[in-house]
Amino acid sequence: MILLNPGPVNVSDRVRNALMGPDICHRESECAELIGTIRRKLLEAFVPGAESDYTAILLTGSGTAAVEASIMSCLPPGKRLVHVNNGVYGERISSIIATQRLGIAEIKCKWDTPPDPEMILKSLKQQPSAHGVVMVHHETTLGLLNPVHEIAEHVDSRGGVFIVDSVSGLGGEPLDIAGRHMYMVAGTAGKCIQGFPGVSFVLVRKGFMENVVKYPKRSWYLNLGNYYTAQENGTIPFTPAVQLYAAFDEALSELLEEGVANRIERYGRMAALIRERLASLGVRAVLPPEQQSNSLTAFYLPEGLILQHGSGRAYAVLHDRLKERGYVIYAGQGHLESEIFRVANMGALQDTHVDGFLGAFEEVLQHECRVT
Ligand SMILES: Cc1ncc(COP(=O)(O)O)c(C=O)c1O
Repeated sequence: MILLNPGPVNVSDRVRNALMGPDICHRESECAELIGTIRRKLLEAFVPGAESDYTAILLTGSGTAAVEASIMSCLPPGKRLVHVNNGVYGERISSIIATQRLGIAEIKCKWDTPPDPEMILKSLKQQPSAHGVVMVHHETTLGLLNPVHEIAEHVDSRGGVFIVDSVSGLGGEPLDIAGRHMYMVAGTAGKCIQGFPGVSFVLVRKGFMENVVKYPKRSWYLNLGNYYTAQENGTIPFTPAVQLYAAFDEALSELLEEGVANRIERYGRMAALIRERLASLGVRAVLPPEQQSNSLTAFYLPEGLILQHGSGRAYAVLHDRLKERGYVIYAGQGHLESEIFRVANMGALQDTHVDGFLGAFEEVLQHECRVT
């Protein structure tokens, strides 16, 4: 089955086979070595040239664990975060923040609208207790790229900390973490890094990490200070998903061999193929090209399909007919659920997979659309 959803993704045989390695105990030196290697490869991939300025903290848990751990760990007493909400994952950040009342201002925008960097700067200036800003890099809700580089500069100019959820961005989109002084960046194994789900990580500026270990612990399990201290000592606080770590290590080797820039280019090329062919079939993208990411496109459901099957059934018909042909697409969320569908192009995909999908898509449209 070819997965065109934004994670879990198709992995290579090489990554899958890494699951079958020897059983190892997480308290033995082999595991410490594995964790050390993964942490080094993460820095090599995402902060090249600035490896000594950052540290990588490895977690067992999906991307949300890394985002929540970052938010729970990044604040000294009495300080709060400005947070941006322009999609389902920005909304999730707001919900995490609300559980501990760690927010000072929410910048809320429509799902198809990137936040205005000036507004964020203004909000930081107005709130003396604001310690920094947290937001999503690639808002997977519609495949929208947020202007994180510009915002990072504004936050840095105010001496604030910038926390980024790049769960669906890292490996698929350029992100200048070190150059723009990003303090914490949350990522996951199971999307553009092409590993399995269930492993996530946070890249943290080293100087900041020295402060984080002294901040109040707002979570027992998801405290980054605890993980950092343990991992620096060659251990880990809780039982990790050892086999998934082995596969993640292999996925990172693959990423480094391909090169992050080349992977980004490959994803961009595949996204362009999908967009061009669907446009030629009259299927409209939700976002303008300049806002679109390299790895996911949201499209309006074709009118003929809605006419034929009704808006309540159109997505299910498209999904089911494509799945019968070996391709999994993804539904829209929230208020756009019955209007759109999404096609991701993350994972160990080749051009032949994309071609196959496009052929299948055309065939389904021919069968299932009423011509107007
Ligand atoms: C931008 C973003 N943040 C966070 C998450 C949550 O990740 P997970 O489902 O792995 O917890 C996702 C998942 O798609 C995402 O796209």
